[in-house]
Amino acid sequence: MKPVIWKCDPEKRIGKIEKNLYGGFVEHLGRNVYGGIYDPESVFSDEDGFRTDVLSLIRELDMPITRYPGGSCTDLFCWEDGIGPRTERRAKMDLAWHQLEPNTFGLDEFMKWARKADTEPLITVNIANRSLMDTAALYEYCNLKGGTYWSDKRRANGIEKPYGVRKWCLGNELYGEWEFGQKNAEDYGKLAREHAKVLRQYDPECFLILCGKCYDMKWNRTVLELCGDVADCISLHDVFCPTRKSEQEYLRGPDQFERAIEETEKVCQAVHLMHPACREISISADEWILWDYDRRMRPEEEWTTGMHLLEQNYTIREALIAGEILSVFHRHADSVKIACIAQSVNVLAPIRTEAGGGCWKQSIFYPFALTSRYGRGDSLRLEETGNESGAVFGSAVWNTEKELAVFAVNRAETAVPLEIQCNSIGGFSEALTLTQPDHDAVNSPKKEWFVPGPLANLNVSSGSAKAELPPFSWNMIRLKQK
Ligand code: AHR
Repeated sequence: MKPVIWKCDPEKRIGKIEKNLYGGFVEHLGRNVYGGIYDPESVFSDEDGFRTDVLSLIRELDMPITRYPGGSCTDLFCWEDGIGPRTERRAKMDLAWHQLEPNTFGLDEFMKWARKADTEPLITVNIANRSLMDTAALYEYCNLKGGTYWSDKRRANGIEKPYGVRKWCLGNELYGEWEFGQKNAEDYGKLAREHAKVLRQYDPECFLILCGKCYDMKWNRTVLELCGDVADCISLHDVFCPTRKSEQEYLRGPDQFERAIEETEKVCQAVHLMHPACREISISADEWILWDYDRRMRPEEEWTTGMHLLEQNYTIREALIAGEILSVFHRHADSVKIACIAQSVNVLAPIRTEAGGGCWKQSIFYPFALTSRYGRGDSLRLEETGNESGAVFGSAVWNTEKELAVFAVNRAETAVPLEIQCNSIGGFSEALTLTQPDHDAVNSPKKEWFVPGPLANLNVSSGSAKAELPPFSWNMIRLKQK
């Protein structure tokens, strides 16, 4: 079989890979917070009720940024309900997910957790149903030293030092009929603009993310025309769902996502060109979701706290798709500046916990962890030949350890030879593969089917490396600089 050839040159760079492409997401949803990152009952929890076993896996994923508190729960979320003494906090029904929100974990707990997890907070602002004054109050609570009602409130709650939040999402998916406070593009753009103006009064350099819509360039254009001069970035959320798709179609979802990113790049450039005041807008893929909509959601637990919602088991298919998506971000390192997997723990997540037990890694854990670890540096342009069927998908990174790290997914049912050509490589560091002949196998607390193993049949010489990518596999090949 003729090999797929990927030729690259460290001088031909797409751009610097932002560390924030490896972000996470903690929404008040199911057991992401309650029973996930926070579980005072667990033997693994620390003095703050944070699960230390989960924290150590989060650190292994190395997520430099984490979005909070939602998601769709943002629209009816009041951060003030979750601050101060726990006995005075307000429990409310969360209408987005039909759960009881006790607010025993709130903004201050998240900030404390984020410090322990070594992750920067990316805060979603409820602009759908709250006022400009509420946005100002949130800013003051988070970021002013003191001397105002809300900043003094934070100090009275025992947090002397401001949090210094710099990155904000202006609402969540407000184009969607599933949101409370759905808007058309014009209304959203006008509203987001006013909230942006408020935040910029306090912090002219803050980083503001608009709700973009993944496959609707008209929405994106309208929103940017209305507030591209006060924002920095536009979000794209995408769901990768197997329903009514063949396995191959499912695996090729990231190709379409990549088209949407490319179209959005063009819209950003066009609006910038036509409206000189519009900034150079980047993209935040702050929810990429591996979600089979047809799975059962445990409705018998409705309206309780910590329900088993969206706890989807992941197979090799999702491991491949996760790897592909991370490569899409590398391939667009010049425009995509933030990306968050949706979500971090239990809910559509790489980490799962057992109530009263330990935690375990899903199939997608390793592609994420290893790409996060070795996929930082500069993304290189790949010149590709011999991949007419599109079976092989990936990216190349000149990483911070001065290695060429190649990430390659083989979506075919057969092995495919891959030849990497790069004059600057002179040796071998490591090559790992993740594969599984049983496409329905999933990890569980009892059995870990998914642990990467060495990639056999790799031949490295000066200037090239030849590998045989196993069928249905995610692979990472790291080569030393000459
Ligand atoms: O990640 C799950 C949900 O998917 C989020 O709450 C919402 O923003 C998206 O539609």
